[in-house]
Amino acid sequence: MTAVIGRDILGDPVDRVDGPVKVTGAAPYPSDVTYPGLVHAALVQSTIGAGTISRIDTVAAGAARGVLTVLTYENVPALAEAPKVLLSPAPRFPLKDNRIVHYGQHVAIVVAETVEQAVAAARLVRVDYATTEALLDIDDPRAPVDRNPWGMENSRGDVTAALASAEVTYDETFTISAETNNPMGLFATVARWEDDRLVVHESTQWPMMARQVLATMFGLPEQNVRVLVPFIGGGFGAGLRLPPHAVLTALAARTVQRPVKLVLTRPQMFTSIGHRPATVQRVRLGATRDGQLVAIDHEGTSTGGIEEGGVEPTTMVTPEMYACPNVATHDRQVRLNIPNPGAMRAPGTVEGNFAVESALDELAYLLHCDPIQLRLRNYAEVSPVSGLPWSSKALRECYRVGAQRFGWQRRNPEVRSMRDGDWLVGYGMAGVTFHWYQAPCQARISIRRDGTAYARSAATDLGTGTYTVATQLTAELLGLDLGRVRFDLGDSDLPPAPQSGGSGLAMSLGAALHAAAGNLLRAFLGVIATDERSPLRGRGVDDVTMSTGRIHLVDDPSVGETYTDILTRHDLAELTADGAVDPTPEGADVEPVGAFAARFVEVRVDEEIGRLRVARMVTAVDGGRILNEKTARSQITGATVMGIGMSLLEQTEFDPGTGRIANATLGDYLVPVSADVPDLDVVFVGERDRFSPVGIKGLGEVGIVGVAAAIANAVHHATGRRIRSLPITVEDLL
Ligand code: MOS
Repeated sequence: MTAVIGRDILGDPVDRVDGPVKVTGAAPYPSDVTYPGLVHAALVQSTIGAGTISRIDTVAAGAARGVLTVLTYENVPALAEAPKVLLSPAPRFPLKDNRIVHYGQHVAIVVAETVEQAVAAARLVRVDYATTEALLDIDDPRAPVDRNPWGMENSRGDVTAALASAEVTYDETFTISAETNNPMGLFATVARWEDDRLVVHESTQWPMMARQVLATMFGLPEQNVRVLVPFIGGGFGAGLRLPPHAVLTALAARTVQRPVKLVLTRPQMFTSIGHRPATVQRVRLGATRDGQLVAIDHEGTSTGGIEEGGVEPTTMVTPEMYACPNVATHDRQVRLNIPNPGAMRAPGTVEGNFAVESALDELAYLLHCDPIQLRLRNYAEVSPVSGLPWSSKALRECYRVGAQRFGWQRRNPEVRSMRDGDWLVGYGMAGVTFHWYQAPCQARISIRRDGTAYARSAATDLGTGTYTVATQLTAELLGLDLGRVRFDLGDSDLPPAPQSGGSGLAMSLGAALHAAAGNLLRAFLGVIATDERSPLRGRGVDDVTMSTGRIHLVDDPSVGETYTDILTRHDLAELTADGAVDPTPEGADVEPVGAFAARFVEVRVDEEIGRLRVARMVTAVDGGRILNEKTARSQITGATVMGIGMSLLEQTEFDPGTGRIANATLGDYLVPVSADVPDLDVVFVGERDRFSPVGIKGLGEVGIVGVAAAIANAVHHATGRRIRSLPITVEDLL
């Protein structure tokens, strides 16, 4: 058995390096940006779900005080088609013609000297529509259906035969409501043109993508577009595509030849930046009486926009989860007249986990077996897809340590058997397998003569700690104190980085910084290669290491010299090196792997009034090496809160006639508040990952996965009610 809790994998819980600028209000979010001469935009949005604009009258709006322009499909200049980028289809430019494909589609953008003037003038735009019936229901037989839309379907063995001959079978359907990303920061765009150069401050998780889309649509060389986002007030995946309003704002700025700012309103956020689509999943299991899985068949259906679609692979992780010989997955996407869905934390995986981990709990009851034992009985020791050993996997420790901290052995497996006064008490658990994702990334590091270092990459920090962990890692790699290292991000002019998404940035950026630090060491050795005065002359990278501001021999730390000495002697202001990684796993002898986790939940249910409380939760996570215990814990607790929202509260309600979102405010769309959230215990287990050069795995999304299944399983244990739809409502419990 490995160590109970891997203290050796825990990085220093240092405070966020960007904390002071945030708490003093000095951190510039996109909505804070201003320029001399800046003017303001407001959007006009469709009030029908499908049809065409028959007439759009902008005369009154255009004549209103302070108005500089009103752009509609009738007068907007043509733009090139947006490129397709990873994780999302090319966005449909909303003013490309008079067609309306969803409620809330932008139909005009008004620019005026002040926000108030722009908003007032937007109300004066009169739009007549020819309305057609909007397709809004995932079960609507008229809706177009794409099968295997992402090419991710997977199959091994013979699932049909295995299900037909299994001793025990299971077949149930799970549904999850649409949900909406609600970052605190309202998405904003500030666009400014200098001749044929465009500068955009954008709430994006991916400056390089935003640059590419804008350059393509406006027909500019990419280096003529600069996207800046040093801070963003959250995103949860909404910033993984460039929303149409950003393009409109850039177009408006070009039209009026002034910098233009657009800040979405909260209701506009619900229709403009994507959402988690509704899903329906069917899970079929076959097992032996003693709990060996012989078949898993998982079919997932999600909703997509009528013209663009979306990526919500609910079945993607299923083939990797358990050592089952016969597995088949099927994906379907139903195209509807809804605002195009987008990524929302652990897209696909979080829904798939709810279905499969609920199904396993049901199977455990059918077999009279402990839910943890059932999972261990089917534990995947190696990747069931590739047959290779995982680059690291401590899911077994997650179960063991989590169960211990939670007190799982106190659970009486019989439903409705545990009480506390009027409350029914339920214990539930779920296992979590997340998937590996990494993308090409570059970083640049300089060491200056004063002994400080400056690292940078065009990454983003969603608020989760990229600034902090990149600073920590750079300091560690160079052997410098944290205070001597500065890290910059959020600028597309910096070395290209991938999105902050897919739980891949820390791994990608960590590997790029590792490569840059290695190259920087080589650069220093190059400078002193023939330097008579250097004790390190002629030494190779394997002979030396970097610590306490010096390069010194590995074998004899007394032989070495400081960065400052070398730079001073050679009259250099600084030395700079780039690092690049393209972590394609082909040919690897291990299966690179994402994080694992186990969740344990205690719920309390008052059946008289249908009241459900999450009383306690323990999460054990294998995230490989943890760069910063504090920010990592925050990642997990924050995502867990989101998981509680998904389980109990969050539900985007589309009006059945028009597709209007009926609860598009934070008063009506419920997210968890502190009173909904119990004490959350998080423990990290495991070891350094073997695939990542810095030993880490992504933690951005795993924290939301498994919450819903663990809660639903606990509700079943408490009440005997099996709830297969989210969110779990009062009505479900009465
Ligand atoms: Mo995420 S949904 O990968 O930002």
